[in-house]
Amino acid sequence: MAPRDQGRPVPPPHPRPQRPHEPGPAGAAGTQRWMELHLPSLPENVGIARVAVAAFAGQLPFTLSEIEEIKVAVSEAVTNAIVHGYGHPHGIVTVRAEHNGSRLLVVVRDRGRGIEDVEQARQPAFSTDPERMGMGFAFMEAFMDEVGVESAVGEGTTVCLYKRPRPQEGTGSPEERAGTPAGSEPDPARLEAAAGLGDGAREAGSGGRH
Ligand SMILES: Nc1ncnc2c1ncn2[C@@H]1O[C@H](COP(=O)(O)OP(=O)(O)O)[C@@H](O)[C@H]1O
Ligand SMILES: [Mg+2]
Repeated sequence: MAPRDQGRPVPPPHPRPQRPHEPGPAGAAGTQRWMELHLPSLPENVGIARVAVAAFAGQLPFTLSEIEEIKVAVSEAVTNAIVHGYGHPHGIVTVRAEHNGSRLLVVVRDRGRGIEDVEQARQPAFSTDPERMGMGFAFMEAFMDEVGVESAVGEGTTVCLYKRPRPQEGTGSPEERAGTPAGSEPDPARLEAAAGLGDGAREAGSGGRH
């Protein structure tokens, strides 16, 4: 006989399983928002990743200058995944971005060859490719608040990029902030912070070759 006939509420037969990437519970500062891309390891996908993450980051009150900084950092991390992680077009690069209303986290992951010595790889001007400048990690560190790197040889690399909008006086809304004279170039002071650089650093806006 059906449970309903016994006068008790009927529980659903199977609780709906939570999907793996379903947004979690609301964070302290608001609802968790996220996006995730799975991109073939092709150079043209660097642009897709940076534009998508920039659009997502626009949900937080970043200035245009800060958005440019995020774009450079994402370009560097995704380029590294494609060029160093895989070095062929058959890999998958995962780009995940999330925030809970206060801090942006961008995770760039590859399942490529991995990094032997992460500390060495993060040094400015270190590169295993003589054609490259070895400044990718330096830019990520200069433009983001915090950079985390986890890697295992033969398994791949995960780069976590964290950034909060900088508080600015008299600019309450994102619209106001986007119109501030800060402009849409990466902050020159942060470029300077990318240790030991000459004038070449100022040409770094496009990312991806450092
Ligand atoms: N995703 C990755 N997979 C494997 N090696 C990486 C990865 N990212 C960075 N590396 C290593 O770290 C070094 C430094 O990276 P980076 O600072 O971006 O400089 P560059 O890309 O100009 O070499 C690279 O030369 C490479 O050896
Ligand atoms: Mg690089």
